[in-house]
Amino acid sequence: MAGLNCGVMVALLGVLLLGAARLARGGETYEIALPHGSNITVLIKPGVPTLPANVCHIISKGWVTPLSIKAGETVVFSFSCQDPQNHFVIEIQKNIDCMSGPCPFGEVHLQPSTSVLPTLNRTFIWDVKANKNIGLELQFSLPRLRQIRWGESCPDGVTHSISSRVDTTTMVRIGTFCSNGTVSRIKMQEGVKMALDLPWFHNRNVSGFSITNRSSIKRLCIIESVFEDEGSATLMSANYPDGFPEDELMTWQFIIPAHLRAIVSFLQFSVSNCVKKEERVEYCIPGSTTNPEVFKLKDEQPGNIAGNFNLSLQGCDQDAQNPGILRLQFQVLVQHPQNESSK
Ligand SMILES: *[C@@H]1O[C@H](CO)[C@@H](O)[C@H](O)[C@H]1NC(C)=O
Ligand SMILES: *[C@@H]1O[C@H](CO)[C@@H](O)[C@H](O)[C@H]1NC(C)=O
Ligand SMILES: *[C@@H]1O[C@H](CO)[C@@H](O)[C@H](O)[C@H]1NC(C)=O
Ligand SMILES: *[C@@H]1O[C@H](CO)[C@@H](O)[C@H](O)[C@H]1NC(C)=O
Ligand SMILES: *[C@@H]1O[C@H](CO)[C@@H](O)[C@H](O)[C@H]1NC(C)=O
Ligand SMILES: *[C@@H]1O[C@H](CO)[C@@H](O)[C@H](O)[C@H]1NC(C)=O
Ligand SMILES: *[C@@H]1O[C@H](CO)[C@@H](O)[C@H](O)[C@H]1NC(C)=O
Repeated sequence: MAGLNCGVMVALLGVLLLGAARLARGGETYEIALPHGSNITVLIKPGVPTLPANVCHIISKGWVTPLSIKAGETVVFSFSCQDPQNHFVIEIQKNIDCMSGPCPFGEVHLQPSTSVLPTLNRTFIWDVKANKNIGLELQFSLPRLRQIRWGESCPDGVTHSISSRVDTTTMVRIGTFCSNGTVSRIKMQEGVKMALDLPWFHNRNVSGFSITNRSSIKRLCIIESVFEDEGSATLMSANYPDGFPEDELMTWQFIIPAHLRAIVSFLQFSVSNCVKKEERVEYCIPGSTTNPEVFKLKDEQPGNIAGNFNLSLQGCDQDAQNPGILRLQFQVLVQHPQNESSK
């Protein structure tokens, strides 16, 4: 009991100190200048849950809520309250068009820099449009990413939401990811939308990823996981828990240290009603004479895999009247060989 009280005291003190730091910054004036042709827009809007509108205002030549800043504009503003982070969020969207010219590829910068932005929850969004046959690869420098289920949240509040454009109007959710995991690269085709959520109390000032163009990957996406040591990763089919898009192909690649073994287990899945082709998973396993090894989702999946391997999920042409839902959540467990006698 005494221990608990002590913990509460420390937490309370922390809140008070934070409050003081915020207060000192209150009334600050901000200036955001977005260069012409930068294709960046900034929006400062009420957060969720929305507090009563008269508690805090954005002041810039009068009260303006929400405040929207377009490329080519310079806006000076301040807040009428001491704690704007409790009322507002900021969304920074950059559109990158690779259809009309070469893409500015490489390391992605947070622009405008977090040092000129007010201390609010920030969402940086990059919307990249490319031609149908161009592969786009997102590469995550350390830390690598850990996939979470839709609606789950990350312990530090830093969240990566990644979608792929499959035609001009349709986006497919590839997944939502936290910052400590195994996912090192995600390859998509045609277009990518990446949203990075940074809560106001987090001091991260870099995006943590780069974008590269690749040749066509001839499928919805490829997700690469790298294991340095023993561990596990839980991964999901695109759009999970909703249905995997009809007649699509998705691949996961696994990089595993040579002295360890991998076991694949399907945690949850359902299949759709196919009129043409069969839904299946295919493994490319080093040393196998029957590559690719084809399994139904209900089959027992391979264990004791030595070396790097990949796993692909192939959808089918669904019954239009009663399509059903193809979805898969699975785990890859990497550990030392458990039993020498079983291969
Ligand atoms: C902004 O978009 C235009 C038209 O899509 C494009 O030509 C230009 O290169 C883009 N600028 C930047 C900095 O991405
Ligand atoms: C800011 O983010 C935190 C944690 O992610 C959340 O609890 C809080 O409600 C958000 N604030 C606003 C104003 O949306
Ligand atoms: C990442 O964080 C979660 C939650 O804190 C933890 O359960 C998990 O083991 C961590 N994973 C890795 C790979 O560090
Ligand atoms: C990010 O913060 C670190 C340490 O605070 C600093 O050294 C670095 O220059 C900053 N980077 C950017 C892009 O602002
Ligand atoms: C990536 O884009 C550059 C410039 O547009 C081009 O020269 C290169 O061939 C592209 N690479 C691939 C793999 O498509
Ligand atoms: C899967 O693995 C096989 C064998 O290692 C390789 O030939 C193939 O290119 C891989 N495919 C993908 C999409 O990673
Ligand atoms: C190892 O595998 C063999 C054959 O698969 C089995 O009979 C034995 O019980 C296993 N031993 C352990 C310790 O799991």
